[in-house]
Amino acid sequence: MPDSPVLYVLNGPNLNLLGVREPEIYGRETLADVQARCERAAGDATVVFRQTNHEGELIDWVQEARGKADALVLNPAGYGHTSVALLDALKALSIPVVECHLSNPAARERFRHRSYVSAIAAGVVSGFGPVSYELAVQPALGLAQERSRSADRSV
Ligand code: DQA
Repeated sequence: MPDSPVLYVLNGPNLNLLGVREPEIYGRETLADVQARCERAAGDATVVFRQTNHEGELIDWVQEARGKADALVLNPAGYGHTSVALLDALKALSIPVVECHLSNPAARERFRHRSYVSAIAAGVVSGFGPVSYELAVQPALGLAQERSRSADRSV
């Protein structure tokens, strides 16, 4: 792993509306505020922070992360509950993935209880609003570092 690891933070549909969309569930902070939190939490790591409303674009970015990222924090939003295609793309990744949600989907409607992403995630952080992202960043980077150390040992 290079001196400055690269962390992808990818966000799925409707998260561009953070701050105005159902604020009683998702809070009043905007996605730009969340990005600033991730950048602070990541320290020296390079953060690539993106959001899309399109499933194919999200999958393209996951594929891109294969060659460019050391770890991924992913809030798949609604696609986490529906997208086998996203799961397939994630299965092709060998970097650590931490799933992240602002709300706690397990405490919400039944259709939110299933997450395809959880099947491959190293861990899940949910329910702490924007702080969920901060809590996801450190273990994602820590796992990336561990992975690179064990790769060094095996050569
Ligand atoms: C969400 C939870 C999902 O169930 C929902 O579809 C979202 C946001 C969250 O961050 O709490 O769009 O991922």
